[in-house]
Amino acid sequence: MFKSKLPDLGTTIFTTMSALANQHGAINLSQGFPNFEVDSRLTELLSRYTREGYNQYAPMAGVPILREIIAEKQNRIYGSQYNPEHEVTVTSGATESIFAAIAATVSFGDEVIVFEPAYDSYLPAIELNGGVPVYISLSYPDYSVNWDEVESKISPKTKLIIINTPHNPSGTILTDLDFQRLEKIISDRNIFLIGDEVYEHIIFDGAPHLSLSKSEILREKSFVCGSFGKTFHITGWKIGYCLAPEKLSIEFRKIHQYLTFSTFTPAQYALAEYMQDKANYEKIPQFYQQKRDLFLSGLSSSRFQFVPSRGSFFQNLFYGNITDKPDVELARELTETIKVASIPVSVFYHKKTDDKVLRFCFAKDDETLRKAGELLSGI
Ligand SMILES: Cc1ncc(COP(=O)(O)O)c(C=O)c1O
Repeated sequence: MFKSKLPDLGTTIFTTMSALANQHGAINLSQGFPNFEVDSRLTELLSRYTREGYNQYAPMAGVPILREIIAEKQNRIYGSQYNPEHEVTVTSGATESIFAAIAATVSFGDEVIVFEPAYDSYLPAIELNGGVPVYISLSYPDYSVNWDEVESKISPKTKLIIINTPHNPSGTILTDLDFQRLEKIISDRNIFLIGDEVYEHIIFDGAPHLSLSKSEILREKSFVCGSFGKTFHITGWKIGYCLAPEKLSIEFRKIHQYLTFSTFTPAQYALAEYMQDKANYEKIPQFYQQKRDLFLSGLSSSRFQFVPSRGSFFQNLFYGNITDKPDVELARELTETIKVASIPVSVFYHKKTDDKVLRFCFAKDDETLRKAGELLSGI
């Protein structure tokens, strides 16, 4: 008999909704990936580096030139210093970074604080490493953190807190006040942090991204995980990185070394060269803000209620005033009838909390967003 280590996991809703969207010819705003072309300068760089022979294993921690540029960018934007040789590791997407950071930190019985709704890769990684998730729901409907509750759930077994800002799926961002509370909580405790910051450049209305690396107190205990996939519309390249103080990076690399060993070589060189031009990532907030605004303007006469997303490429729409159908049922129905696919937010809660909210991805070309707005306004 084969005993599953993750018996409760089945096909994810992302696969299900995308398949349903295909089946019904629906606009797919469910899964989080762009449907527009990548900058041709980046694809040309990738092709050039493959042609020029950069096709063998990269160094385990990543090619030096990319690690240097990551460290330089982190310093320039957030004023945080990371040594590219010892404290920056290139990984196969942020998913690998998050998994390796959890595996490096969590031992059997350790507790991990997870805010819900939560990105779906955290829980399996915690469970596979023998950790115990301690769930805290973000306050509905503004999805803020109740730090008093966090304090009350800290125990001698708490080992890790996972912070995701800008946040998927709520589209909210943390503030200075949140960081102050977090600093107080971890200051005298042996608690570590993962900063899932994959949407750091997808942030709106001039708000600054607060990286855990910005605070000296937090930085010392943090694995900061980033994703080039999100920033440069190349989710299929699966390339990201982890920044962590040397002591943590040593342990992180022990896992990374045997999880993947190293990451796709030509992409590392291509990205290092592409990022020399800072405009390539500095223009991203404005690029996505236009998309968010376009999507929302198409919904201005719809019956959905919403608070504009502050970051990430997701917009939540509240529909409790329209119907009391369960969100999973409504998401299916809208895919089949209106022909717009979304993700029901209840799937991001372990108890499937249904606040009547659907998540829509607006990383789509303008025509798709206009059409989706029209269709959704017909409800
Ligand atoms: C919050 C969050 N973290 C991590 C990831 C994974 O990033 P990557 O594609 O670089 O593995 C995603 C992707 O959807 C995400 O939304």
